Amino acid sequence: MTIFVTGGAGFIGSNFVFHMLKAHPGYRIVCLDKLTYAGNLSTLEPVMKNPDFRFVKIDICDREGIYKLFEEEKPNIVVNFAAESHVDRSIENPEIFLQTNILGTQVLMDACRKYGITRYHQVSTDEVYGDLPLDRPDLFFTEQTPIHTSSPYSASKASADLLVMAYNRTYGLPVAISRCSNNYGPYHFPEKLIPLMIANALADKPLPVYGEGLNVRDWLYVEDHCRAIDLIIHKGRVGEVYNVGGHNEMKNIDIVKLICKELGKPESLIRHVEDRKGHDMRYAIDPTKIHDELGWLPETKFADGIKKTIQWYLDNKQWWETIISGEYQNYYEKMYGSRAEV
Ligand code: NAD
Ligand code: TYD
Repeated sequence: MTIFVTGGAGFIGSNFVFHMLKAHPGYRIVCLDKLTYAGNLSTLEPVMKNPDFRFVKIDICDREGIYKLFEEEKPNIVVNFAAESHVDRSIENPEIFLQTNILGTQVLMDACRKYGITRYHQVSTDEVYGDLPLDRPDLFFTEQTPIHTSSPYSASKASADLLVMAYNRTYGLPVAISRCSNNYGPYHFPEKLIPLMIANALADKPLPVYGEGLNVRDWLYVEDHCRAIDLIIHKGRVGEVYNVGGHNEMKNIDIVKLICKELGKPESLIRHVEDRKGHDMRYAIDPTKIHDELGWLPETKFADGIKKTIQWYLDNKQWWETIISGEYQNYYEKMYGSRAEV
């Protein structure tokens, strides 16, 4: 069994590579990654010498290169994590999101059609459903919730999902899609909420909370997401969408306060800054389908997962400090330098 994991040098993809090598000894895992600002090869260092693992630096939009690799490796399954993933960056510059997230998906599926696979899996997001109002805690995203996107990021992911379903209906490509809520855990790039707040708090820097911080996200420990995808690619039904999330809803401001508490830092570090444009209020997944069909349930409660995550960032300072000292600082200046305090 050979599995292509695209975007495997990023946050969730790298966790998935580790999960698969451990859970399925004998599987060959080939990671395809362009190593954009979000890809970090040092993350994969522990498995680089594993004979069941191969890393290939490649852009999923590079049709010729991708076809060559399919010819060479003859993968059985493709799991597509590769994407531009940061909403704030998509607001600044949408184009690369459309290229990678939509056209890259098309190239991969064309290769799957040409060379034949048993399963193409698209890693998608709950953000394709838009958002839910704060005053309706009874509402959740199901697989039937209409697509209704807010940001260029979510629009690009939704477009890819539509294309994936079209390749199934038109060409009979054996596909499935998972739509997951916000992940957290080890190797999360330090420009996203949780790692950014941990890194800033440790350096006694301001903690920039967008608007009032009342926005709600449904947080899932990354290992639970990896297990869900593992189940779907082996046992999920072709042509189906599976929502993945775990009833772990938290307000942004409460997460930031919790991080302050865990690190013994004062809440006076918190700064309420200008809100994100088009900021989604609440995401909340109904995971009934994946639970009923595949027996999946999240195993890590937020209270435990956040402690584990903070400890990981304390134990692996070098991993994120190296990132912060690089290109990240230009990015930080651009995103926060001119963001007025409110
Ligand atoms: P990430 O930004 O940490 O990693 C993305 C990886 O893709 C990086 O290694 C990057 O180098 C690679 N990449 C980007 N463009 C590429 C290209 N053109 N060709 C090859 N590789 C390329 O992202 P993540 O948080 O790990 O998210 C992975 C996937 O999961 C994405 O598809 C994202 O939409 C989805 N998702 C993420 C979350 C979350 O909370 N992070 C939640 C739901 C779904
Ligand atoms: P993020 O980690 O970017 O994930 P997403 O936008 O995909 O949900 O942001 C999570 C939430 O945290 C979102 O509501 C925006 C908010 N946020 C801040 O308040 N401050 C920040 O510096 C960042 C990066 C995010």
